[in-house]
Amino acid sequence: MNTIPARLTRSMLFVPAARPDMIAKAARSAADMVCIDLEDSVAPEQKEASRAHAVQALQTLDFGSRTRIVRINALDTPYAYRDVIEVVEAAGAHIDLIMLPKANAPRDLHFLDTLLGQIEARLSLVRQIGIEAQIETAGGFLWAREIAQSTPRLESLIFGPGDYAASMRMPLEHIGEADAHDALYPGHRWHAVMHTIVAAARASGLRCMDGPSANFKDAGSFERACRVALALGFDGKQCIHPAQLATANTVFAPAPSELAWAQSVVAAYTQAQAEGHGAINLNGTMIDAANVRMAQTLVRRQQQIDARDQPHTG
Ligand code: COA
Ligand code: MG
Repeated sequence: MNTIPARLTRSMLFVPAARPDMIAKAARSAADMVCIDLEDSVAPEQKEASRAHAVQALQTLDFGSRTRIVRINALDTPYAYRDVIEVVEAAGAHIDLIMLPKANAPRDLHFLDTLLGQIEARLSLVRQIGIEAQIETAGGFLWAREIAQSTPRLESLIFGPGDYAASMRMPLEHIGEADAHDALYPGHRWHAVMHTIVAAARASGLRCMDGPSANFKDAGSFERACRVALALGFDGKQCIHPAQLATANTVFAPAPSELAWAQSVVAAYTQAQAEGHGAINLNGTMIDAANVRMAQTLVRRQQQIDARDQPHTG
């Protein structure tokens, strides 16, 4: 089981590396995590120049307590290895995590792990850079468990709905939205892959995050997508526009009523245990050790949020 650094992960804002103006806005946004993207939001002719933008932003901007992530290109492109070498060699001390898109198998993670280890050794970096793997291909889904166990550097699995639909040849009108195809299907079309990602992540002590919703004007559908992801066990949601951040931050934080419930469960159970009872009646509901574990998850999540404004270390 991995022991990973505690990070606040209600919202992650994607920002194209080709847009230094937007990176500056992302660095002071309400996002818990900022991901500078070298992959799908950057046109091929801008790929190489965008690395320098990413380096410049990481070296010069103050990201406060936000986690700093760089998404490299996929390993089946000619860009990936140079993304890692150029960006991490120049700005490794200012990077918390590298995101690997289209993770297909453990060997993809082994390659990135080795490359990062070599650069860290050359730079004498004292802090290890973590990895987040996007599960967004048929292979990623089938080998999610092996990917989750591939390296202690891995911190998180992330669902990628757009590429997953493409890989599986599932028709999809808007990334992250319910559409006419969903209305036809008697169930949640993404349930199998989403549930698998959460289970693979939890079994290995990792975080997991839901992918983005592309239609940033539709606040209602975004909130629904956040609530579905929360219900399935995800820790947060990727965002592509600042307008989505407040909703993700609210949905993935415990509501005051939930916190009050969690605290009353812990208190009642502690007293019950002192009296020698394992299961008790709390206002007409059975409470046992499982309820306490759920309550403690909420309490821990709130503690992380309360710690958000602590000074950045790194
Ligand atoms: N990060 C930081 N700032 C952003 C932003 C982002 N991802 N998306 C928009 N903004 C800023 C804009 O610069 C603008 O700032 P201003 O008010 O100072 O001018 C403001 O938010 C409103 O933006 P808006 O005009 O509504 O959108 P846009 O047309 O400028 O951009 C997108 C729309 C989709 C192109 C843009 O949101 C984007 O590039 N998102 C990220 C895409 C991405 O990284 N995809 C990869 C993962 S799926
Ligand atoms: Mg993708």
